[in-house]
Amino acid sequence: MSRTLAILKPDCVRKELIGKVIGHIQSAGFKIAAMKMVKLTPDAAKGFYEVHKERPFFHELISYMTSGPCVPIVLEKDNAVEDFRKLIGATDPAKAEEGTIRKMYAENIQENIIHGSDSDENAAKEIAHFFSRKELLEINGWE
Ligand code: PPS
Repeated sequence: MSRTLAILKPDCVRKELIGKVIGHIQSAGFKIAAMKMVKLTPDAAKGFYEVHKERPFFHELISYMTSGPCVPIVLEKDNAVEDFRKLIGATDPAKAEEGTIRKMYAENIQENIIHGSDSDENAAKEIAHFFSRKELLEINGWE
């Protein structure tokens, strides 16, 4: 079993797609290990996306990610990171494959509904950004 971090982004919450998107995730065999709704502060969003700070869209990305509540979710499954990236599809919904979550629901490369960690190492860091060890333990009894 491995874990990944998903975030249902502010456009997903605004469009009331939380239930539909979680339905797709669970139908694909992912187990929810932890979940909460948060409104990111600019500092928290900058910390989360630190790796992209030199990219031209960084300020727009922070502004969008702080524009309303989002829903970080810890997911568990064999090969979680790779399988989840396949389920959500390409960053730009115009390039995402049919049947992927972004193809079905995303507007554009910024308002793209959902985040998924890109490596096991980053998944561990991203999970720690939103959830304490205790929160994971309380839900799943993990060591
Ligand atoms: S990825 O997932 O890291 O391979 O994707 P990448 O293309 O490198 O993009 C990193 C995150 O930045 C968001 N993004 C953008 N936001 C606003 N405007 C533009 N043009 C843009 N391009 C990329 C993208 O949605 C990724 O967010 P996350 O939360 O990681 O999915």
